[in-house]
Amino acid sequence: MKRYLITGCAGFIGSNFVHYMLKKYDDILLVNLDKLTYAGNLENLKSVENDKRHIFVQGDICDEKLVRELFLKYDFDYVINFAAESHVDRSIKNPEIFVESNVLGTVNLLQRAKDAWYDDKAKTWKEGKKYLQVSTDEVYGALGPEGYFTETTPLSPHSPYSSSKASADLFVKAFHDTYGMPINITRCSNNYGPYQFPEKLIPLMINNVKHHKQLPVYGDGMQIRDWLYVEDHCKAIDMVCSNGKIGEVYNVGGHNERPNIFIVKTIISQLHDRLNDEEISEALIKHVEDRLGHDRRYGIDPEKIKNDLGWYPETPFEKGIVLTIDWYLENEEWMNNVTSGNYQKYYDEMYKAKV
Ligand code: NAD
Ligand code: TYD
Repeated sequence: MKRYLITGCAGFIGSNFVHYMLKKYDDILLVNLDKLTYAGNLENLKSVENDKRHIFVQGDICDEKLVRELFLKYDFDYVINFAAESHVDRSIKNPEIFVESNVLGTVNLLQRAKDAWYDDKAKTWKEGKKYLQVSTDEVYGALGPEGYFTETTPLSPHSPYSSSKASADLFVKAFHDTYGMPINITRCSNNYGPYQFPEKLIPLMINNVKHHKQLPVYGDGMQIRDWLYVEDHCKAIDMVCSNGKIGEVYNVGGHNERPNIFIVKTIISQLHDRLNDEEISEALIKHVEDRLGHDRRYGIDPEKIKNDLGWYPETPFEKGIVLTIDWYLENEEWMNNVTSGNYQKYYDEMYKAKV
């Protein structure tokens, strides 16, 4: 039985990964270490709370003692680090926590994995172990109108968020280059799908449209993101963890570049038709002050993961966005719960001056 330490899996991508893995494998143990920040939500894991293959531990990836104890107790084969502060706008307001969780947390996981897996006397690593870092295409910076990010594109992050992720990636690479640690890094484009916290573009717009609230589009709305359906991403992570060549970076992209304004208009038109609601129209769009240092375009060339591992993004955007809207419409209570309390304070702070 393979034993995984998975971190940050009460969040968006991580919780989807738990569901994906439990559906796919019978003989597996997932130990899920999550601090439960504002973005971590045990409701995302409600349907698996009695599943013996998944153990939830509330805690911080920066906690040396706790992570050491988990390695001793469970003798992990794999570590997959999803845990991070993940929102660019928050990183612009408060960069320090991004250094703590994203950089220092990653270094703590690497150190504890090395303690558990490396025999200092024999100078050998235990067989079959791997550390996988879930990273982002944002570490490459921004593209002009032409070209794509490949795995050899130089790192050139712009935001405090992407700088912290790039820094973490360099530490992962350093553990490989210095100690020979078996690692992979995956760098994916913007994910969308169920359980995404509504501070991110797609769920925020779905929620605002439903409530006839203004739709804050940063700047001219012509920034391009390469949208990846979250389940396709989970499949890629599983494939890289099982079969990725040691030491390699894999870019994971949706082949699905769209300007933000297109995404917003698609959500408006879908919800207008499905809710049969005449108050839902493009008049809700409000172009607001642009994000500081806003990256203009991201676009991934996923050839390497396709050639090496046979992965490709299976879900076209037209299908993925319908599945996503279906999910948010069917899970109104989930949305109501995450947007009550502190969320309103966050939304007011971020958008009051804008919309
Ligand atoms: P998220 O914000 O939804 O979830 C992050 C989770 O990490 C939360 O459950 C939170 O409680 C937990 N966490 C944060 N700090 C922690 C700490 N110090 N110790 C333990 N747990 C902690 O994020 P997400 O969108 O699911 O992203 C997951 C990973 O994927 C992140 O590393 C992110 O950088 C990367 N990524 C995300 C996207 C995207 O589109 N969402 C794109 C590229 C890369
Ligand atoms: P986001 O979902 O925050 O992801 P990221 O910054 O990691 O790409 O934002 C996606 C795009 O949508 C980005 O170009 C910023 C833009 N955006 C808006 O125009 N309005 C919003 O309210 C939000 C949250 C994002």
